[in-house]
Amino acid sequence: MKTYFTEETQFFGKSDPVELVKEYGSPLYVYNESILRKRCKEMANLVSYPNFKVNYSIKANSSLELLKIAKDEGLVADAMSPGEIHVLFAAGFKPEDIFYISNNVSEEEMQFAIDRGIIISIDSLSQLKQYGKLNPGGNVAIRFNPGVGAGHHEKVVTGGKKTKFGVNMNKITEVKKILETHNLTLVGINQHIGSLFMEIDSYLEGVKSVLSIAEQFDTLEFVDFGGGFGIPYEKQAGEARLDLEDAGNKFNALLTAWVEKYGKPLTFKIEPGRYISGECGVLIGTVHTIKQNYDLTFVGTDLGFNVLSRPMMYDSHHDIEIFKDGKVAKENEKVVTVVGNICESGDIMAKDRALAHIDEGDLLGVMNAGAYGYSMASNYNNRLRPAEVLIQQDGSHRMIRRRDTLEDLMRNFV
Ligand code: LLP
Repeated sequence: MKTYFTEETQFFGKSDPVELVKEYGSPLYVYNESILRKRCKEMANLVSYPNFKVNYSIKANSSLELLKIAKDEGLVADAMSPGEIHVLFAAGFKPEDIFYISNNVSEEEMQFAIDRGIIISIDSLSQLKQYGKLNPGGNVAIRFNPGVGAGHHEKVVTGGKKTKFGVNMNKITEVKKILETHNLTLVGINQHIGSLFMEIDSYLEGVKSVLSIAEQFDTLEFVDFGGGFGIPYEKQAGEARLDLEDAGNKFNALLTAWVEKYGKPLTFKIEPGRYISGECGVLIGTVHTIKQNYDLTFVGTDLGFNVLSRPMMYDSHHDIEIFKDGKVAKENEKVVTVVGNICESGDIMAKDRALAHIDEGDLLGVMNAGAYGYSMASNYNNRLRPAEVLIQQDGSHRMIRRRDTLEDLMRNFV
């Protein structure tokens, strides 16, 4: 028996997809505030070790209202660019709440963070030297590559010997020399081994490696272990959640034992992106045509990869629900291929998927679209990026980002 996420969670509160699309247009990103808050709390309570911080990795979703909610839940944030720092300030985060994880950045970008008193994580020996010249005597963090990686696709594995990230673990002597030359204080070290694990083991391997590096420095204030906590994308097929209790217990035991050995308490951080915002988002689209091309039935929608690129980029699976008159349809399943309106054959949202009977005019909901959905959306084919709507805790809804307009497409031409 399939489960239907929006029904189970009463995702749309007091409204329904038909009403929302009538008011805000299609396609449409819809977020549920209660689910977002729940996920923030689960991460904040992952371990009982007291000096523990959750850096929400806002690349997953940096919609301003969602950032304000994450802040309200006590989360801090990591940023990957001056643009992310800019929206974090707009959401009310303070410089000390932000960790700038740089990768191949210009000196101007480093200076942007330095001027604002934001701690920056440096990703290579040469950039450490550049930083030392810009900010002699300053504080700095370094991203290490623990030599192990994990992730749902090779494109999102960020640790290990074949990735561009981090300083190798065997470069500590050189790191120390550069720190000394520029009188820098290493206040933090960090890593991120990759995105989406459903079992904690490889993450904990990475944790151990980073802690073994931490032991070699005595100025540290924090160690940041990165994100990657997975969510079940195949809920309709009964995929289990990451066992947070078990993961948290193992993680906690490791941290507590290490601190005892190290002799002074450090702050430990994690950087979840997907886990925080993935499940609170559903992308709604409209079926404009159904056609049979040779042996295949194509359901033609407005859900192109300009709106949600994950299936095209990583062959990612997203559960789909069909809405008829605002209710989830379940009858007469048939295998179809759901496609968008972009002029590429790879523009496929779901391939050979068994879905309830679909008529033209029905709405589709793409589940787990809250992470790496809007944040990776584009104007490809000069299509307009959708509006975003928040279902608030009392069940009412509110637009939090308007749809692009045709004028937006012309905005930067000179
Ligand atoms: N920290 C760093 C340094 C990262 O590079 C990332 C993600 C995260 C934290 C958060 O990882 P998460 O908890 O969300 O797994 N676009 C891909 C995912 C790319 C992740 C890149 N880095 C996708 O849609 O699956």
